[in-house]
Amino acid sequence: MVARFPPRRQVLAWSAALPLAGCARRTEPSAGGIVTITWYASSMTSSHTDPRQSLIDAFQKAHPRIRVKLVSAPTSTDEDQEQLRYAIPRDLGPDVYLGDVVWPADFAKERLALALDDHLPEDFWDRFDPELVAAARSRNRTYAVPFYVNQAVLLYRRDLVPTPPDTWEELAAQADGLVTAGRVKHGFVWQGDRYEGLTCVWTEFSRDAGAEDGLRISTEPSVAALTFMRSLLTSGASPAAVTGFREPQALQSFEAGEAAFLRSWDSAYLSLAQTAAAGTLGVASLPSFAGRVRPGASTIGGWSLYVNPRTRHLPEVLTFLRWMTGVPAQYTIAQYSIIPTNEIVRADPLVGDSPGIKASVQARPVSRPSGRTGYLDLSTVIFTAVHRALTGEAEPRAALTEAQRTIDRLTG
Ligand code: GLC
Repeated sequence: MVARFPPRRQVLAWSAALPLAGCARRTEPSAGGIVTITWYASSMTSSHTDPRQSLIDAFQKAHPRIRVKLVSAPTSTDEDQEQLRYAIPRDLGPDVYLGDVVWPADFAKERLALALDDHLPEDFWDRFDPELVAAARSRNRTYAVPFYVNQAVLLYRRDLVPTPPDTWEELAAQADGLVTAGRVKHGFVWQGDRYEGLTCVWTEFSRDAGAEDGLRISTEPSVAALTFMRSLLTSGASPAAVTGFREPQALQSFEAGEAAFLRSWDSAYLSLAQTAAAGTLGVASLPSFAGRVRPGASTIGGWSLYVNPRTRHLPEVLTFLRWMTGVPAQYTIAQYSIIPTNEIVRADPLVGDSPGIKASVQARPVSRPSGRTGYLDLSTVIFTAVHRALTGEAEPRAALTEAQRTIDRLTG
């Protein structure tokens, strides 16, 4: 029997405490010509150190007739997405929101994002790498403005690990050895919960093992990758708790000195560099498997600015988009060790050489198969299968074979 994977909207419990309630706009006539727009955005660093308010303050200074009300979104991309899917059709949504780079196709189809091509001049898009713009497009329309890029890196404790490992096998052995010797509580922490972040981690391991296509997941390299991931847990190199870790939990565990290695995004660097761990903090490209191409694969993530098709303040929102992707704002985000999307800022050696960003720039980027409509459901199938194998609920091969059948049905 073919297992039925529930679509993501059923996987996630709907939260009654709706952060988007803060967005409710019953039409606010402008007082003294001042217009307030709401910006729904999660933390850009999964931590308290975050540039959102500084960006808003600088924007308001440059555009005194526009006020920006920040409504904080959940740090998990999945919950964030669910809130928007609920709120926008009910006219409870924000004017503009920060959305994951993997959303354009699905959000366009569900009419949750405005096509921006008729509202921004063609040369506006010249400020970005064309590949980033291509990823924001669906059926020849552009649904998001690239705001920042995330790239996976390896963070490690230099007091425990003098040289970062080149291979996953070495990393596992070192992590295991450190735990066994009682030098650290956990060896290697990462994002192993049942959510989009696990699809990112899976993309890296499966590509490192030789998988070529994100939607052919029951091949030998994929089975080998998942078997290795499971072995991290059974050997003790990673704690069983990682199957419940998302970005904040993994970061907190590493920050608390509990782990020798952390797989996270470049943006974790700055928040860690400001903690007590700073003196021993190391950052490197991710490892690969022995005998495979190096450095290891690093999933391309990132967040873009999307416009609610129901906004009543489109001119002000467009001003906001232009400013947030302009040079001053993009320098601000680079100071937080977040990779900017504006090519001028990105090309500045001072930005490229900052430690968190440097490790990401040296990475071997790989993408999730997010260009197609239905990606979010496909990813749910993938992370559900990977999670089942990680927790020991299914053998890696069986979990992937079953998931492949569902993928074939969904894409067939
Ligand atoms: C980061 C990435 C995003 C990815 C998410 C998974 O926020 O920028 O693209 O989907 O992590 O947790």
